[in-house]
Amino acid sequence: MKLLLVFALLASTIYGARVVEVSKEYQKSQKCKACHLKIVKEWEESWHAKSHYDKDEYFSKSIEYVARKSRKSPNSVKVQCATCHNPRIAVTTTGLDYEIKVLMELDKNSKVNEAIESSAINEGINCVVCHNIDKIHHDRDDTFRGMDRVSWTESGLMVGPFDDATSPYHKTEYRKFMDKESDKLCFVCHANDRSVNGLVFVDMQKEYKKQDKACVDCHMGEKTSGVASTLKTDNGQAKKREVRGHTFRGSHTQDMWINALNLDMWQEKDELIIALKNPQPHNIPSGFGSRELIVEIAYMRHNKVVDTKSISLTRYYTRRKDKPTIPHLAEEMSEDVSIPANGEKILKVKKAADASSVEVKVYYRLVNDEVHSILDLREAIWSKKFFINSKSLELK
Ligand code: HEC
Ligand code: HEC
Ligand code: HEC
Ligand code: HEC
Ligand code: HEC
Repeated sequence: MKLLLVFALLASTIYGARVVEVSKEYQKSQKCKACHLKIVKEWEESWHAKSHYDKDEYFSKSIEYVARKSRKSPNSVKVQCATCHNPRIAVTTTGLDYEIKVLMELDKNSKVNEAIESSAINEGINCVVCHNIDKIHHDRDDTFRGMDRVSWTESGLMVGPFDDATSPYHKTEYRKFMDKESDKLCFVCHANDRSVNGLVFVDMQKEYKKQDKACVDCHMGEKTSGVASTLKTDNGQAKKREVRGHTFRGSHTQDMWINALNLDMWQEKDELIIALKNPQPHNIPSGFGSRELIVEIAYMRHNKVVDTKSISLTRYYTRRKDKPTIPHLAEEMSEDVSIPANGEKILKVKKAADASSVEVKVYYRLVNDEVHSILDLREAIWSKKFFINSKSLELK
């Protein structure tokens, strides 16, 4: 543990996530609306816009829980998580001196509190996170993510996918990671998510089996013709462009879940075989620990349900002495039961003796029962079942 701390301190002085202050004209998405209204509106609906702890119950309760169990101040944990959830924060680490200040209630006007409470960062992953990345440092150790993996452009320089864009409001520059190599942008944060004990509980970059599509093709949609900006810069017209949506649609909305997995089913003697196939280039579930797939089986006879069974595919996390915990405090985790990228998983269940047919439904949940109850989550979305697929079969 100590060694890890020394290493972290050393590394932060070598690489040092360097803070670049964003001036008021660019801090908030509100400032972009005059010329990029559609993009701002789409982004506002996305969960990138909810990545600040104030806007995500699961995230904020996880912070409180980590702080309580690791005897740290909630603000120190917030700074730690900000690496990916709030990477434009003005402080990048907190030390023992801050913990002492908190204990003595002298933290009120500290730099740390100011940085955390600043309205500049309450939009979470907003425009000036992705579009102010100057360089992604692939040479850095795999564990360096979010703000520790990038350097920022000067305030007011927006990087984007076009090499011929000009704007009267801000400077523009082309970057490959906004265009042909956009997966690299996503992997700045969507990779190597670790517990405070260093256990990597999910690593989308490692499991990724790239085919023809990039992350943006599915999560921002295919390119369509439109405009990047509504400002009339092209002979009195807005310039026509091939653009994508800024929806970043994912696991919290029903849309993309339909048929996200293929379902196949057959009978072998007195067993029912269920094959779950994943055509996506990353595992499902993935992204965050404690996500869950639920396979519900209903055996019928004469259109009446005679027996039911439910199979949960999820991962459990433990700390000291096998105590159940949340991913971020885990020392160990149960076996990976997700459906591998471009792969499949076979489930075998005993057929109910008197059934003449069976119906199987597959759902997804954002949080399994264990973590749901540890954190006492209240909002409906955390227990919602997102429908994925279903199939029926006559039985012999
Ligand atoms: C998570 C990263 C991310 C965030 C946050 C983000 N963008 Fe983008 N943006 C991208 C990517 C990637 C592209 C390139 C899409 C493509 O292939 O055309 C892009 C493209 C654009 C373009 C060019 C038009 C287009 O669709 O290609 C504009 C303008 C733009 N973004 C503005 C914004 C504004 C304004 C915000 C804040 C409301 C924002 N972006 C937030 C990643 C992001
Ligand atoms: C006064 C209008 C205006 C405002 C306000 C404005 N932009 Fe732009 N922006 C433009 C124009 C014009 C372009 C170029 C569009 C084109 O060439 O198709 C552009 C292009 C971009 C691009 C693409 C750059 C590239 O090289 O591909 C990004 C990213 C972007 N803006 C982000 C932002 C962000 C973030 C904000 C808010 C902080 C913002 N803009 C505010 C007018 C504006
Ligand atoms: C600066 C870090 C960062 C970058 C860069 C980033 N993301 Fe994210 N992304 C996050 C975080 C943090 C969340 C979780 C937000 C929450 O749920 O509170 C998230 C959530 C998501 C989700 C889940 C949305 C949902 O509804 O479940 C999708 C999809 C996603 N990101 C796609 C992308 C894609 C595609 C890119 C690259 C163009 C990208 N992200 C770049 C940090 C990032
Ligand atoms: C071929 C389309 C496709 C590509 C490419 C793709 N995804 Fe996904 N992704 C999906 C589908 C479908 C889902 C499940 C449905 C949903 O989240 O709405 C998903 C789910 C996710 C989730 C939520 C996972 C969970 O179990 O909670 C995240 C985060 C995510 N993708 C990020 C990414 C990132 C980052 C990339 C690039 C490295 C990427 N995706 C590439 C289709 C794709
Ligand atoms: C390496 C970058 C990174 C760091 C550091 C990080 N996260 Fe995240 N976090 C993500 C990404 C990316 C997602 C989105 C994954 C998805 O949607 O499946 C996410 C999602 C989450 C979620 C799920 C939110 C939801 O709405 O479903 C929780 C809870 C969470 N993080 C807690 C934390 C806590 C607590 C910390 C600090 C102790 C932290 N994270 C630090 C990258 C990070």
